[in-house]
Order: sequence, then structure tokens, then C-alpha cells
Amino acid sequence: MSDLRSADWYVGTGRNAYIHRAWMRRGLPASAFEGDRPHIAIANTASDLVPCNMHLGEIARSVSNGIYEAGGIPLELPVMGLGETLVRPTAMLWRNLAAMQMEEMFRANPIDAVVLLGGCDKTVPALLMAAASVGLPAIVVPGGPMVSGSFRGAPLGCGTDVWKLSEDVRGGDLSAKEFLSSESSMIRSKGHCNTMGTASTMGLIAEALGMVLPGLAGTPAPDSRLLEGAHASGRRIVEMVTEQLTPQKIITEAAFRNAVVALAAIGGSTNAVVHLLAIAGRLGLDVSVDDFDRIGADVPLLVNLQPSGRHLMDDLFRAGGFLAAMREVQDLLDPTPITVSGRPLVEHLDEARVWDRDVIFTRDIPVQEKAGIAVLRGNLAPGGAIVKPAAATPALLQHRGRALVFDSIEDFRDRIDAPDLDVDENSVLVLRGCGPKGYPGMPEVANMPLPRKLLEQGVRDMVRICDGRMSGTAYGTVVLHVTPEAADGGPLALVRTGDVIVLDLENRRLDVEVDPAEFALRTPDEATTAAFAAPERGWQKIYVDHVTPASTGADLDFLVGASGAEVHRESH
Ligand code: FES
Repeated sequence: MSDLRSADWYVGTGRNAYIHRAWMRRGLPASAFEGDRPHIAIANTASDLVPCNMHLGEIARSVSNGIYEAGGIPLELPVMGLGETLVRPTAMLWRNLAAMQMEEMFRANPIDAVVLLGGCDKTVPALLMAAASVGLPAIVVPGGPMVSGSFRGAPLGCGTDVWKLSEDVRGGDLSAKEFLSSESSMIRSKGHCNTMGTASTMGLIAEALGMVLPGLAGTPAPDSRLLEGAHASGRRIVEMVTEQLTPQKIITEAAFRNAVVALAAIGGSTNAVVHLLAIAGRLGLDVSVDDFDRIGADVPLLVNLQPSGRHLMDDLFRAGGFLAAMREVQDLLDPTPITVSGRPLVEHLDEARVWDRDVIFTRDIPVQEKAGIAVLRGNLAPGGAIVKPAAATPALLQHRGRALVFDSIEDFRDRIDAPDLDVDENSVLVLRGCGPKGYPGMPEVANMPLPRKLLEQGVRDMVRICDGRMSGTAYGTVVLHVTPEAADGGPLALVRTGDVIVLDLENRRLDVEVDPAEFALRTPDEATTAAFAAPERGWQKIYVDHVTPASTGADLDFLVGASGAEVHRESH
């Protein structure tokens, strides 16, 4: 009897095997059902409503050719995709639903392994969470970034430059007409955002974890080498079935540590923190949010990409790519965890070379000395909060200022541009009700736009504090993922406008200077609690009832851990 999982469906003389084979023939040869050719799902998050993933069908064909060439049976499996810029109320609300749908479909179907096609922000994390829970051999093919935009002779990075240009409009430095004329210059090709936003970060981090053929992540979406890599991934997944090379054998605690080093060296998105913690939770790894600081804080920023730097993803690829950057920090990488290639990541670094030192800096003279994500604690964030120093104004990382508090993003939008707003450049903007439960879905709103009257005075950064997330393409001195969130009993709900807040990066503290006895007696205002979400039906209700804090990945409590691939019952 074949060892293949799919053989359990197809091999035999009984009625069930007959039904499974008969309905699947549709042009497949009889050899597809004899139990010696692995059936490989190509989990495809493409959709017309996921613009960054629209081209994944083309990649799926290359994967498919590779699988067939290596003796496997390729089977395209459309799975839930999320268009970051489109879905309401926020794409993060749906990441766990997408991961759950994928997990269930990987388990339910007669497959031996899965190729994961993602791109836009939440798609690669959801695919990895699902694959980790099911435990079948899996390989990621990232959809790749779009080519650089250009506007008025300068590179235009998607996301980052939207924030910059819109602040210029609000500050009176750019006309609305000029702003709109940049729109068609921003998205010039297929692919995901070309800054070091969440999609770029998660593609590279998937490679750092070992789940992508080394050297493939970051290949621009229109580059024919991406299709070549997709073909190679198809061939490789067939071998991985024989080797039973599952995510459990690849994404170990050592691989997680390598991902944290990589995250700092590339100046990756803060969103990688919640995604990596959620993936780790599926695998039962002994890791925590503090590991990002412990492992990554002293790692230098080497990659000069927006939003922390200047260039865009196709520049990184041209300059030598992710592996060339990793070679600079090779001594910080654990040499033991193997990748989907069957070999450790470090063994793939020997050939890597840097071709442009303005894109990939040296270890001796990095873009920034200490670039990792810092984890803060204090009476405002007893469960932790994070800040990305690489994207912040250094002088603001030690700061003391009066809080200006907003109960929701709508409250913020209503008041932020009021000419009589009591705010100055030392104020600390506080936005609550934006955590996983409070919004719900933990939206990317922490990088609050600055008050118009300060923009007009030339102010371009302020300390901002929020229990939500910020876009990976955003920048600024933003303390985010404050845990516990305001809607989950967090002290952020008790802060009042006028309280003095102290941000002390050096000592990793975030505190409000209120007499502890007085603070202990405070309760949230009615307006504060009224802003918290209270869904009564559907996915939003399930989500709010079960989502875990940002500091553990904002997964659903009943999805943490693994389900495995075995399904014993069948209804025929
Ligand atoms: Fe899809 Fe940025 S909106 S990657």
C-alpha cells in the first residue's frame, strides 16, 4: 500500500475509491490514481479583488508544470485572498478566517503537500498559519513586488509615498491636483507593494523561516526569474513529499530567531510581529514578543528601503537581494535550521554578492546601528507595546508630553484638523479602541496623520500611541500594539487628555505620570466604552469572543496549535 495520503482516497477496489477516482478523472491519466504520484495542491489566493495577487494564476501554471515534470499531480485550489486596500472594516479581521478556511481545505482534500501562493499583506501569513497547523509538506512562492513607481523624476513607493504626499497636501506643500496626478504613477505593474511594507517583509521572512526556495523571495512580480523559481518550487515540493519535509521540521525556534534577525536587518514591517507570533503559536514554539527585542534590538539595519530608507524592492533585487543582505549578518544566524531546499539558509549565502552599496549597506557602516523592534512595558502597557526605532525620529524616542486622547479613529478624524485643537509638537497623540477586540480587527491606524495646524508649522513627526497596528509602509514615532488593548481592560482606556506620558526607549518604558492611587480608581468614560465593538452575529462575533492579544499573535484561541492532516470520517 502506498504511503501517500492521497492514496487513501484513490487506491482500492471499493465504492469510495471508485467515486474519488471517477469524479477526478477529467483528463488525468490512470497513473494519477495508482498511489505513487503525489497530489499537490497549489493554494492560490488570487482574485480580481486582491489586486496585488491578480497575477498568481500565471505563477500557478509554472508551479504546475514543475510538479507535473517531477511526477506529481498539480491541483489548483483557490483559497481566500484579502485585498488589503479594499476590504472593510480592515483586512486583519479576516486573516484568521482565511487561515481557518485554508486549514480546513488542506485537511479535507486528498492532497499530499501544498504550494502556497501569496503576496498581499495577510495572504502569506494566513497560508503559513494554515500550513503549520496541518503539517503537510509545504513551500511558499511569494508573488513578488511590483516595479518601482516614478513621479516628478523621483521614485514613488506605494504606501509610504501616499502617506507622505497626503501629509504634504494637508500641510499646503502640494496641490490636490498634483497629488492626484501621482496616482497613476504609483502602481506600474503586477505585484504587491514595492516598499518594505508587510507584503515584502512577509515574503522575505517566509524565506528567512526556511519556507521559500532560497533566493526567490523579493523577485519582482514581472521578472521571468520568478516563473523559473515557481517551476523549481513545483519540482521541489514533489521531492519534499518523499522526504516528508513538513513545516514542523523547518520552522523551529532557531528558524524563528533567524527570522527576527532578518526582520531587523531589512527594516521590516511591525506587522511581522503579530504574524510571526501567530505562526509560532500554531507550531507550539516557545517564543514571545520579548524575543523580538532580545534577539533583534542590536541588529543593524542594512537595507536602505522605504519606509526606513530610500529605495524600493526592485532595487534590493538588483543589488543582490535578500541573501546578499543576510550574508552581512551571517554570524548572527543560526546555522542549523534547514529550509525547503533541505539545506540550512546559511549554506545558500556563499554565492550572494552585493552589487549596490547604496541599497545594501555594510555591517560596519549600516543604515542604522540598532534597528530591531523594541518592546516597551510600563503602566500604560503591562503586556507590552512595540516601537520600530528605524522608522522613528531618534529625538522623539525619549519624550515626555501631554496626552491628547481619541476614543476611535472616527473621533480622531472628526477632531484632528480643528483649528482650535489644543495640541503642540510635544503633545502625545493617543488613539484607543483599535485593538483586535475594540475595532474589531486591529486596523492599521496607529500612524495617525498629524494635526493640520502643526503640519502647516512644518512639524512632520510626533509621538503617537495606539492599541492598533500601523501599515508596514508607514513611518514615524509610533508606539503600537499596546497590550492589553483598551477594550480588553487595558490601562490605555483610563488615560485622559492632559495626562503626561513618558516614552523612554532606552529603558523600554511607556508610562503615564498619574498618581497610582488615583489611576487605580479611574474607570473608562462612557464615550470610551461606547466606541468598542460589540458585534452580535457572524464572524465578527466569533472573532471578538475568541481573538487573543496582539502580544500573542491575535490568533483565535481555538486555532492556536495544530489540527494535523488526518480526517478519518467520510460520508459516502
Ligand atoms: Fe497589497 Fe500593499 S496593498 S501589498
